[in-house]
Amino acid sequence: MKVLVVGSGGREHALVRRLSRSPGAEVYAYPGRAGFKDDCTVLGGDDISPKAILNTASRLHADLTLIGPEGPLVLGAADLLREQGMPVFGPSQAAAALEGSKHFTKVILTEAGVPTADYRSVRTMEEFESALISIGLPAAIKADGLAAGKGVVLVRNEGEARSCATRFLVDRELGAAGRHLIYEEYLEGEELSLFAIVSGENYALFPAARDYKRIGDGGTGPNTGGMGAIVPVPGISGGTIESYGRLVFPPVLAELSRRDIPYRGILYAGLMLTDNGPKVLEFNCRLGDPEAQALLPLVNEDLLSRMYEAATGGWIEGPVSVKRGASVCLVLAAEGYPSAPVKGETLPGLDLVPAEGVDVFHAGTARAGENWIAAGGRVLNVAAGGEDIEDARARAYEAAGRYRFPGSQIRKDIGMPGVRG
Ligand code: AMP
Ligand code: GLY
Repeated sequence: MKVLVVGSGGREHALVRRLSRSPGAEVYAYPGRAGFKDDCTVLGGDDISPKAILNTASRLHADLTLIGPEGPLVLGAADLLREQGMPVFGPSQAAAALEGSKHFTKVILTEAGVPTADYRSVRTMEEFESALISIGLPAAIKADGLAAGKGVVLVRNEGEARSCATRFLVDRELGAAGRHLIYEEYLEGEELSLFAIVSGENYALFPAARDYKRIGDGGTGPNTGGMGAIVPVPGISGGTIESYGRLVFPPVLAELSRRDIPYRGILYAGLMLTDNGPKVLEFNCRLGDPEAQALLPLVNEDLLSRMYEAATGGWIEGPVSVKRGASVCLVLAAEGYPSAPVKGETLPGLDLVPAEGVDVFHAGTARAGENWIAAGGRVLNVAAGGEDIEDARARAYEAAGRYRFPGSQIRKDIGMPGVRG
């Protein structure tokens, strides 16, 4: 089976490596990156518009196309391929609005009766003032549309709230993405990421993951795309995950079906575990990055055939089967990340074979002559399996030491007990 994986980050590297192990799989990455070459055929290129994806999949006669990042999904890439009768693992534009529009998400959650933070929809400064009074402070202000990680601002007082609303609504700092806001009650608790493979109203859960969003140890400093991830989350049993899954997925998927929006692909629910039970913070229409790099090496089943079933609307049943033990993924980021990553540093160690149970994924690397160099913010991901989080963490840090490069940033506390993301 010819499988086309769209994307070029560490998540897609983990996907191509996993899928290449499925029997009969012939895996291609578009655009991919040079560092994927041992796991698949790298097609190269720089255009991941829906049209370019359609052209690539058609030329290749792909039997299955799997779209990694949210951008093309929210723009309708899956619809374009499906119109041509091509199986796609990834939601339609209407279904991907669960990530592309925070307002749509709130409406679906409310209609489905799934717990989420109380909110008001805000399009003008007058509506903002009344939301400020009715929801109060602290609060989360969220741009409706995709904003590359800049669309959620946690505000503590009136000054911060008003300044944020003005920047988004009046100054149009985020363009059209910030024309419509959600003003949301602030929730306290631990966060948890739930991932499911979804086919219509059926779903199969992966084990839960935790990611670490801040650049600095102890959860300090600016937000990043994610500096590490662990699977499973200590203290959260398989039974608890099943019960959280039942709280969120069946009602949301039923509500989508009622609206004639079948979901096919990964649905990722970000939960806050509050004193009043779990509440949905957000949905994403794809796997998390770097959660996927911790999760996929643990999978112990033929993921490709399950993804194909979901892509073609077949029956799937969970949970996804995983090996015993745990996995920890560390991100090696460039100096200056997240604001201004330094590119071009030479990366040592990449031609060596990693130890048993260790995966090294290329997230932001490039080939320059004989060398690998840094070419992005999050450069490398080092994931290690172990008997438990402590064991996996020790193995991951030991392995990551080999790949440090000048100026590289790595959190030292991924997977340590009591550490916040
Ligand atoms: P989102 O993209 O909606 O998940 O928001 C990004 C991050 O902002 C989340 O992972 C949380 O850490 C935080 N956040 C979002 N909404 C809230 C909320 N209502 N209360 C507290 N923190 C929040
Ligand atoms: N690691 C968080 C995300 O992929 O959105």
